[in-house]
Parts: sequence; structure tokens; C-alpha cells
Amino acid sequence: MTSKDVYDGLCEEICRHDKLYYVDHKPEISDQEYDALFKKVEALEAEHSEWVTPISPTQRVGEMLSSGFKTVDHALPMLSLANTYSKEEIEEFITRVVKLAGHDDVVYSVELKMDGIAVSLRYENGFFVRALTRGDGKRGDDITNNARTIRSIPLQLYGESIPEVLEVRGEVYMPRKDFEALNAERAEAEEDMWANPRNAAAGSLKLIDPKQTAKRPLEIALYSIAEMTPQAPQSQHGSHVFLNSLGLPTLLHIAKCHSVDEIWEYASKIEALRPSLPFDIDGIVIKVDSISEQRRLGYTGKNPRWAVAYKFAAEQATTRIRDITVQVGRTGTLTPVAELEPTLLAGSTIARATLHNEEEVARKDIRIGDSVIIEKGGDVIPKVVRVLPEKRPADSQVWTMPATCPACGTPVQRIEGEVAVRCPNIQSCPTQLLRRLTHFVSKHAMNIDTLGEKILVQLIDKGFVKSAADLFVLTPEQLYQLEGFKDRAVSNMLKSLDAARNIELSRFLFALGIRYVGTGTAELLAQRAGTIDGLTKLSYEDLIAIDGIGDKVAVAVTEFLGDPRQQQEIQRLLDAGVVPQELETQSFSGHPFEGKTFVLTGTLTQFTRTDAAKQIKQRGGKVTG
Ligand code: IVH
Repeated sequence: MTSKDVYDGLCEEICRHDKLYYVDHKPEISDQEYDALFKKVEALEAEHSEWVTPISPTQRVGEMLSSGFKTVDHALPMLSLANTYSKEEIEEFITRVVKLAGHDDVVYSVELKMDGIAVSLRYENGFFVRALTRGDGKRGDDITNNARTIRSIPLQLYGESIPEVLEVRGEVYMPRKDFEALNAERAEAEEDMWANPRNAAAGSLKLIDPKQTAKRPLEIALYSIAEMTPQAPQSQHGSHVFLNSLGLPTLLHIAKCHSVDEIWEYASKIEALRPSLPFDIDGIVIKVDSISEQRRLGYTGKNPRWAVAYKFAAEQATTRIRDITVQVGRTGTLTPVAELEPTLLAGSTIARATLHNEEEVARKDIRIGDSVIIEKGGDVIPKVVRVLPEKRPADSQVWTMPATCPACGTPVQRIEGEVAVRCPNIQSCPTQLLRRLTHFVSKHAMNIDTLGEKILVQLIDKGFVKSAADLFVLTPEQLYQLEGFKDRAVSNMLKSLDAARNIELSRFLFALGIRYVGTGTAELLAQRAGTIDGLTKLSYEDLIAIDGIGDKVAVAVTEFLGDPRQQQEIQRLLDAGVVPQELETQSFSGHPFEGKTFVLTGTLTQFTRTDAAKQIKQRGGKVTG
């Protein structure tokens, strides 16, 4: 066997495992084993770049993929579904279908209504060639390069009967647990959080840099064939089976029904299942199963007559507010939190809900002691929808934001034009310090898992640690004073601190806790700056010229780096032996736009203004207003 045969075999093996994992949901190997296969392919490609083809597994993110999105006409319009909200409305739909079909033994395909982003994928002679978003239904954005990074989208179809042309439609989504993890990181970085997995998926699909999209855990579930040569299967059920045989991921829990009662039973079963599904759904879809009957029924304006959605209500519960407490964030923001009588909602016990800010509390007139309706719509963090005034007890208490920080007693600060109230005691508010340190040691930052919250609290209480840099100068004598710390614990702690000293630049930047700088932004900064020193030299204009960085982040980074206290802290970290690894910078040198500044005026015909600005920035140019 030649090494080319080995290479081909490995590529095939990886494709097979992608299918087992994403399509069949039956992985045969561990993630580590998968990564090992991948590394072998990469190693062979490093020696034989001539073997690399667009469909080799390493090419999901090509080096020179263009970005900015072209708008492309859909082969067939992407329509939407009419909604129903009750059994009666489903019955009305069935009655209409039966009347139009002229017989009452219509078979229905019932499916999950995925709460994601609709896309259309095109395959020609078995190769993935294009992905479009729904757009306005007639024309969508060409997101091919981003879609290529989604591992559940095969770049090449499987099987014997590969169609010449196949255009399939489905929904791109972010699994709930991945969404929660990413959102927790964003919260930690005080970046804007996504409201729900759908927003996260939408944002991820529209990133300009496919390399960034590749890091977002997106998946796809397909539910229909829009175009196919030769002829497509003649039923919705047949379509699912056929798409699956080509290695394409389809919907889970598809079923056939023959009556309203059967459909209602299915809807109830799925609604009960909803909290335990790994992704968000917002209802079910009922479709006439026969494709020829679908064709006969046709469309009204923008909805098919042969299908309808049944939407579940947002999951709500009634509970009581026991207290309203105030949470102190890493940068001192004070957030009111409702402490609730624990109640079951959407599969989990809810004991707290964020009230966002004092304006929100006043607007909804939320008082301590009130009975309230809480809801978990698409959103992960439950919210208080409204108060039940008829249940308000006589002794309910109006809440106001305390005048001093609950953690350190410093008078709070209100910043003009902002709703947020802050504790200005950055230096010595113990809770701010604890939040900063927790962030600093967290998994995607310095990743020092020996420093749990309990230990950090003790280190702060004993006055050993006043900033992150102090962690690296802790002495054994100090560590022996911590609860339960004997020889082993002390030596483990010192070892793990030592190991943490050598750190990727992007992680170090994330760990610093600059406002709005999450892992993704930290990486962009690291790529551009190369070193800590390089970063401190970047001006606001340099920062804003980085694709993916906007005004808010550029201002926050400039302010942070210009603050003498932060400069001193960075220096102390470096002096304590922390070594952020240098990176090769992504320089724009040699590019025609380098050093040039552009002003966009008038009407642009080929691009939107935002797209044009992005394209210029990517080529090293600057854009000003
Ligand atoms: S069929 C012509 N099936 O819901 C009808 N849509 O308003 C084509 N959706 O835009 C849609 N799950 O984004 C269909 N099983 C499913 C679906 C589904 C989610 C979305 C889709 C569509 C919207 C309908």
C-alpha cells in the first residue's frame, strides 16, 4: 500500500465517523481517537500538499475563503408555514385538506419544528456546492464557506444512487448544552449574551470569517427536498429515508398520522419530550405525506396549503419572589436577582431569575412577596413575565437599588446614559475581586483548576491575594494556612501555578477580563498583536480595523490598556513569570489597501455599506465615517 492509499483510507475513515456521529448518532470511536485520525491526515498533507482536495476533511475551513455574502436567487422560493395554536385549529387545517384532496384517508407526516435557521443546501453530482440562507424567501445570502465548516453537512454524498442535482432544506441549530457553555463564557467576559440558541446559530452562520464559524458548534437537520434530478421520492417519509441513505442528517422523531386525534397525541408526546431534547423546538409541523398530493394542494401566497405548524406555548410557571438580592459582577455592575420559591420549569428547578436592572423592576412593578409568572421561552435564563397583582400580599415590599455596594459598602455610581449601576471600588471590593479571579483561573482563561472558589475566598479573606498577579507569588507558608492544606495540596498548588505560567497569548488576554472581550475576540486580538507588547502598541484605529472588532470592543480595549493600574498588573504578571506565548501576526503587509483610509459615500450597487467596509478592513484598509 502506498502512502497515498493510506491517506485516502484515512480520509474515508474520517468521513465515515462524521456520518456515524452526526447522522446516525452512533459514534464508534472517542473524540480523542477521532482527533488522532485527523492529525495523521494533517501530517500527510503537510508532506503532500498535492493530495489535498476541496473535499478532504481538513478543508472545511480553507485558507483563502472569501467572505462577505453574495445574494443569490433561490431555485425555488423558501416559504414559511402558517401557525396553529390549538387542537381546533389543527382540525380546521385537516378539514380544509380533506375537502381539497377530495378524500378523507390522507396520510400526514408529522415532524419536529426545529427552532433554528432555515438553509438550503445544493449538491451537484454528489458534491456540496452551495448553501443559502432563507433571506426574504426569494433570494438568500450565500453562506457556502461557513456551511462547509459544519461537520454534519457532508461535503460529498454517500451511496449508489447519487442524484445529479439535489437541493435540500433544513435548519441549522446549536445544541442546547453547547449554547449554554458558550453563553456562560460570554457572560463571564461581560460580552452581550445570546438570548437563545437560535440567535447564537444565526450569529454564527453570518460571521465573516469561516474560521470563527468553524469554532461554533453548529449542526443541521434536513426536512425536505426542494429540487432533484432524477425524480425525487414521492412521499415526505420516503424523502427522509432517501436523504438519510445519502448520509444527510434528517429530523428525529418523524411519524405518520391519519387523524386529528393521532396528531394531537403526537403533539402531546413531543411536548412532554421537549425539555429532554438536546436542541430547541418550538412546535411540530404537520405535512401531507404524498408529494403528488402536496403539488395538487399548492400554495396560498407565501404558505403551502399542504402543511401547517402547531406551536407550543412558551413554558411558564407561577411562583413567589422571596427576596430580591443584588449580584456584583466582575467589573462592578450591580444586577438585581429575584430569589424565587423553587419551582419546576421546562425540566429544571428554577430558584433565581435575573431582573436585569432597576428600570426593569420598576417598569414591571416587581415587589418582594409578589406572585409572578416566570417563563422560559427560547431563552435559557428564565425571566419574570409579569406580576399577578390580584395575589399581591398586603406586606409586599417595593425594592430599590441599594445606595452602597452590598459587598464592600462603597457608595454606588450611576453613569449617565447607562442603566447599569456600578460599585466603583475596583481596587478592593472583595466580590469584584473574587469574580475577577474566578474568571482569571477559569477553563478557557488560565485554566488553573486547583483554584476553586472556596480557596479563592480564603486567599482574599486572609489578604494574601489582592490581584491575579498575587496568585503567582503565593508562598508555601501562606498555602499551609488554608483549610485542609497539607504537604500534598501545597505542592500540587505550586505545581499547577507553575504549569499555568506558560500560556497562549489569546487565553492570557481573555483572562485579563477586559470588558466585552470573550474567547473569540481575544483570539482576534492575539492574532493581530502577536505579543503583549504588540497589543499595547495598537491604537483605537488599529483595533477597529480588525475584522470582527467593533467600536464598543475597541473602546474597551483602549481604555483597559491605557489604565495605569492595568498596565501595572500586566507587568506584575510578567514579572511573576507568566509567559504569554508569541504568535505569528496576521499582518496585512503588501496588500494594496494597507495604510489607506476609505470613506464610503453615495449609493453602492455591488455591496451593502457594511459589507464594503468589511471587505476593505479585511484587506488592511481603514474605513472612517
Ligand atoms: S417545512 C414550505 N419542516 O419553520 C414549508 N419547516 O415557518 C417549508 N422549520 O422557514 C418549511 N422545522 O425554518 C418545515 N420540520 C420542518 C421545520 C420547518 C422548522 C422552520 C423553517 C421554516 C419555518 C416555517
